Amino acid sequence: MKTLKSTCVVGVQWGDEGKGKIVDILSHKADVVVRFQGGGNAGHTVVVDGEKFVLHLIPSGILHKSTCVVANGVVVDLIQMLDEMEELKRRGVKFGKNLLLSNRAHVVMPYHKFLDKYSEAGKGKIGTTQRGIGPCYADKAARKGIRVGDLYNEAFFRDRVLAFTEEKNKIIAALYGQPPLDAQRIVEEYRGYAEKLKPFVGDAVDYVNVSIDRGRRVLFEGAQGSLLDIDFGTYPFVTSSNSDACGISAGTGVPPKKIGAILGVAKAYCTRVGEGPFPTELKDGLGDKLREIGAEYGATTGRPRRCGWFDGVTSRHAVQINGIEQVAITKLDVLSGLEEIRFATAYRYNGTITERMPSETEVLARCEPVYRSFKGWKDDLSRIRKFDDLPREARIYLNFLERYLKVKVTMISVGKDREKTILRK
Ligand code: IMP
Repeated sequence: MKTLKSTCVVGVQWGDEGKGKIVDILSHKADVVVRFQGGGNAGHTVVVDGEKFVLHLIPSGILHKSTCVVANGVVVDLIQMLDEMEELKRRGVKFGKNLLLSNRAHVVMPYHKFLDKYSEAGKGKIGTTQRGIGPCYADKAARKGIRVGDLYNEAFFRDRVLAFTEEKNKIIAALYGQPPLDAQRIVEEYRGYAEKLKPFVGDAVDYVNVSIDRGRRVLFEGAQGSLLDIDFGTYPFVTSSNSDACGISAGTGVPPKKIGAILGVAKAYCTRVGEGPFPTELKDGLGDKLREIGAEYGATTGRPRRCGWFDGVTSRHAVQINGIEQVAITKLDVLSGLEEIRFATAYRYNGTITERMPSETEVLARCEPVYRSFKGWKDDLSRIRKFDDLPREARIYLNFLERYLKVKVTMISVGKDREKTILRK
């Protein structure tokens, strides 16, 4: 069998695992970097030479001149994409033919953002990023979506926008008592964005497949995390896409047999933004301490992240559904100075012990973690570049994590910058 050169980076937790930095390191060796799901809800932070870049739609590979693809599974806010391109240009990042937006990707329309915001004000709040992600995917499934390619078919585009906006305006008035959106204006505005984006739009299915066939190194960049996956996450407190390796084929048109190694990224502890169960959450001063030391505030919304201990149970679930064999552990440095570090190895529920993550969110919310305790360390890890130079206590913690998840920890991040990373063979 031919050696596969494609690799995928996915989050093992609820997003914000630090995938941006890991993708940035791997992008050095990637010819093509592909986003396959999600949209502007993601926020990938990369620090290059002390300069911080926050990317929401464009893969961080753009900083390395890799070809960056926003594939069909992504929902694209055209305004945000253009803003991001402007910001990159302003900061001297050059791109052109190395940016490709799939003509099959769905467009986040103004009414999607509107509905996301207002539906969150009522019952059943998810704590979304309010970027219109859920309503856009809902329209895609209802076959009422607008795809990037449709923007260039003037009559078809106009008819669809007029019809859908009229329908949405009825909902907006009836449910939220808000004034209607101006469909004609939307048509004109979006035609303008379409013109600006035209040089970057094309058939990404063919491009990515041919790239793999020609032996180019392709990196699939997952956004959010496995526990936010619409099918396998903590439903309904999830995002609206398959935010793990399961989403690659549908989100790109690359068949499963062409997808190579899957690298999972997990923080040395755990965080979550928005609503939903989080068994190992620390609701005390220690949680606040982790948030402050780890600067745990959302890259997209600035919301404070909920913080807690590493959850082996949910992580095992993520390892299973992704087929993860290698893991990158990020923010190990944040744990320095703690007397004790805890790791959830099972849950206690209704008097029984389980090592499986329950599928029912209500059950998960009532699970109590069973912890294994580890001795902490005091050393500053930021200058360490070899696993063997880590404090003994840190090595014990990571060795246990490897054994528990049956994975190999191949990268360890000990600081924000690219070079503050331990690479293991
Ligand atoms: P949505 O994706 O904006 O619909 O939000 C659904 C849930 O996913 C909310 O709990 C969000 O906080 C969470 N979420 C979405 N994108 C991200 C991300 O990039 N990092 C972490 N959480 C996210």
